[in-house]
Amino acid sequence: MSSVQPCGVSDDDRRPPVNDLLEIAQRGLALKPKRLPSWLFYDERGSALFDKICEQPEYYLTRCEIALMDEHAQDIADTLGSEVRLVEYGSGSARKTRMLLQHLHAPIAYVPVELSAEPLRRSVEQLAMDFPQLPLQPLCADFSKPLRLPIPPRAPRRTVVYFPGSTIGNFENREAAVLLRKMRNEMGDAGGILIGVDLKKDPAVIEAAYNDRAGVTAEFTLNMLRRLNRDIGSNFELSAFAHRAHYNPMAGRIETHLVSRREQHVKVGRVNVPFRADEAIQVEYSCKYSLEDFAALAARAGLAVQQVWTDSGRMFSVQYLVRASTLVR
Ligand code: AVJ
Repeated sequence: MSSVQPCGVSDDDRRPPVNDLLEIAQRGLALKPKRLPSWLFYDERGSALFDKICEQPEYYLTRCEIALMDEHAQDIADTLGSEVRLVEYGSGSARKTRMLLQHLHAPIAYVPVELSAEPLRRSVEQLAMDFPQLPLQPLCADFSKPLRLPIPPRAPRRTVVYFPGSTIGNFENREAAVLLRKMRNEMGDAGGILIGVDLKKDPAVIEAAYNDRAGVTAEFTLNMLRRLNRDIGSNFELSAFAHRAHYNPMAGRIETHLVSRREQHVKVGRVNVPFRADEAIQVEYSCKYSLEDFAALAARAGLAVQQVWTDSGRMFSVQYLVRASTLVR
């Protein structure tokens, strides 16, 4: 996937090559406690399972965010203004993006930034049919690294980074601030960030969202091991691990683990990784915020919350951030 790039996808060669996966896995499994990065979920099957999670009755996040976009799309587009270049971090959210693009006034370009080439190509192909006038400039890259954004076809009035889905919640506070700071640099002085943020609420509601009755989330979590087996030749036995997701009220986040059901050893490359019975690999945090929590996080990144759209139940929020120095109240 490195050399041939169909349909004008810019390829950023600073992505980790697949060989590094082995090293990433070995390093994470040598930590105490063991830990693997959550982006490892999203191979082809993992992305499909995530889409299925979004359809589960317990997973309120996607439904709430779509309802917010549906209700406020015009207001959001007005807030962003005309001649926007929209840069989306991760391109898996076609539905929300469409709602936004339909309402934007004379957008300059849409730049989806996505690590997996195939989903990126497919989403761009779809968008090209629905928005034939809109220049599409897909970028195959890791959005957590510095980006070289493609040169826009015309000078935009502002660059807006779109980061839906509460994906920001997957980063611990310090890393989240670093990522927001990076977006702040990429968007420039006049730019903004439109971000989906999941809110604190009854822990039982949050926990249910990550433990759906149909077991789709469990399958999604376990898929990380299946993916490693395929890509680096490890020999995780999927039935010997269990999905566990608990809400940590002190930290305000869901903590997802893969728990070893028994004492065992797993071969990861040339390393034989020991597991105790009940030993856990930490695989994901999903942080939840109060509006005050998130404003404080934004402030740490030199950003200010200009506008918040939320539902009557305060389940989820879509927020527009600008540089702290440029906010006019
Ligand atoms: C897409 C990262 C926001 O943390 O809620 C869903 C991923 N993990 N169920 C989230 C996820 C388990 C999701 N994000």
